[in-house]
Amino acid sequence: MLSSTRDLLETARRNVYAIGAFNIYNQEGVRAVVTAAETLQSPAMLQIHPGSLKYGGSGLVALCLEAARSSSVPIAVHLDHSTSASAIQQALTGGILSIMADGSPFPYSENLAFTREMTKLAHSHGATVEAEIGRISGTEDGWTVEEKEALMTDPDQAAEFVAATKVDFLAVTIGNVHGEYRSQPRLDFPRLAAIRKSVDVPLVLHGASGLPPQMIDKSIELGVSKFNVNTEVRQAYVQSLKFELSATKTPDLVDLMNSGIEAMQKVICEKLQLFGSAGKAHLHQSPYAEMLAIKRGQGRQGGQRKQGRQRSY
Ligand code: 13P
Repeated sequence: MLSSTRDLLETARRNVYAIGAFNIYNQEGVRAVVTAAETLQSPAMLQIHPGSLKYGGSGLVALCLEAARSSSVPIAVHLDHSTSASAIQQALTGGILSIMADGSPFPYSENLAFTREMTKLAHSHGATVEAEIGRISGTEDGWTVEEKEALMTDPDQAAEFVAATKVDFLAVTIGNVHGEYRSQPRLDFPRLAAIRKSVDVPLVLHGASGLPPQMIDKSIELGVSKFNVNTEVRQAYVQSLKFELSATKTPDLVDLMNSGIEAMQKVICEKLQLFGSAGKAHLHQSPYAEMLAIKRGQGRQGGQRKQGRQRSY
């Protein structure tokens, strides 16, 4: 079922697990995410970044929305990392009700102004907004931020930013990196704990590829409710294509695509287990969940149930 990001993240937060949000490029990616989520009875998110949106256009958006609607588990569809008002408008018009307004490449005051404006726009469509404060290093969607340009999230500034922009979710930079970690990942957990104390919205951690299980667990314990994953899934797809092409002289295209789906699905299943969301689909499908979603003016897009472990923060 098509769910709202608010339902997914707030239910995950209350029950101390996190939602896996996976960047997809095509039908194979969409099928890999939805099949993995259904296999494990887990909620999940399909993410389109602006490069994919430009390539796939409204067809890709419709594909994601339809896959979410016809899925047996809660799936939200989200526009990832958008620095452009026109891409955000395109996504909203196409029916995506969850966007990331990413002003993090800009200086702080411009980030704040951009995020505030995009949040107003998105909220007027009934959509939710994720924004970033600080600046994550690494490469994503053809955009590279060098390590020296990266900025850690300041907890006080985070509080001011959330209050001023009214964003629904906050992506934090605590040493996380887009793409491969060049050395052992080092996350600043005291900083994450301080951010958690200073803001009340669900927190998001980008660059989850390559993070070891203990870091994932600790991040969830300290308030991360959504992990973004791209690199590991994409690499599994490419490796599978390379392998199949080298193993077969006359490859069948459908077989190639199915192998790609299987390879991605394996990684996605591992991540859903790690994030603790496997077996949690039912928590989003109760009358209580419906009631909360309706109360928040989000209609019958999914929901929440009050049960399971309580937050430890
Ligand atoms: P990775 O490519 O490092 O998994 O990061 C994905 C991401 O953060 C998407 O926004």
